[in-house]
Amino acid sequence: MRVLGIESSCDETAMALVEQEQEVVRVVASVLASQVNMHAVYGGVVPEVAAREHAEQVFVLLEQLGVPRDGRGIDAIAVTAGPGLIPALRIGVELAKTLSWLWKKPLVPVNHLEGHVASVWVGALKPPRFPVLCLLVSGGHTELILMRDFGQYELIGMTRDDAAGEAFDKVAKLIGLPYPGGPEISRLALEGKREALELPRPMIESADFDFSFSGLKTAVRRLVEEQGDQLNKADLAASFEQSVVDVLTEKTKRALRVYGPASVIVTGGVSANRYLRASLAEMVQHEGGGEIAFYAPDLALTGDNAVMIALAGAWQFARGDLADPLTLEADANKRLAL
Ligand code: KG4
Ligand code: ZN
Repeated sequence: MRVLGIESSCDETAMALVEQEQEVVRVVASVLASQVNMHAVYGGVVPEVAAREHAEQVFVLLEQLGVPRDGRGIDAIAVTAGPGLIPALRIGVELAKTLSWLWKKPLVPVNHLEGHVASVWVGALKPPRFPVLCLLVSGGHTELILMRDFGQYELIGMTRDDAAGEAFDKVAKLIGLPYPGGPEISRLALEGKREALELPRPMIESADFDFSFSGLKTAVRRLVEEQGDQLNKADLAASFEQSVVDVLTEKTKRALRVYGPASVIVTGGVSANRYLRASLAEMVQHEGGGEIAFYAPDLALTGDNAVMIALAGAWQFARGDLADPLTLEADANKRLAL
């Protein structure tokens, strides 16, 4: 089937046409307009600014995507319905409702997090086998999810305060790096020493699979205040990255030992982090001895995009989970089907 995907939950406006036939996924076209530079001025995403920009971009992107005016050839319209910023989500949702009504095509309200999960299936030579243990790390979420099949998600752990990406962004701000901080910190970390500064590894020993990153951020703030100009920012970036990667890897390892998955995947914006990928790959190899496969999305699909929304939409269409184009509403706290 051929699905039109629409994403506007945060600071990227994106649309894609994706074809899916069983295990074969083909990206027909994909377009994206990023607002990152616009929000960098404020040091974070401003929801109303995001919404205004999405509204300006949606028709430009629809045109660029080359979709026929009557929607010919499209079997379903998938749109991110949540979680995300309400003013931003609404733009994509209202567009999708209008197109669905005009073209008489089914409307699929996708969970943004299932989109991030689906991104791993795009371009994978051999798709992950179930059960899949998923570490989802983005700007808004840090979760360990057990996926027993398509559409079956069991949340086994989550952050109790800041998300991993949020921690990268806040620490970057503390040392004067621009938003988004993740790529900046990991670049600077290459020049620093990972053992240079002693930072906590919050909850690394706790018996559950939850995370907490706000204490780590506070520890960094204290160091910045104490050391002032003496602080070596590269060492700080390297030590901070090491701490986050240690916690994420250790918790994923514990979950792997308990749930015995056939595959482990990492996804979301923070999965662009090469150091995290390498650490997880090594851990999975060590634990599974080659029996457990490790996957991460194509680097172009780690951040928000519409390819992942279209594919998650195809999965959801197959489950028959559709929405009414007259009544669908964006849901800031949309939960993953449990
Ligand atoms: O998935 P995403 O694009 O948006 C959300 O759904 O939240 O994730 C964005 C987050 C930001 O916090 C950004 O700093 C982080 O992903 N990020 C990274 C890297 N690239 C992006 N964090 C660590 N290392 C990176 N290389
Ligand atoms: Zn995202």
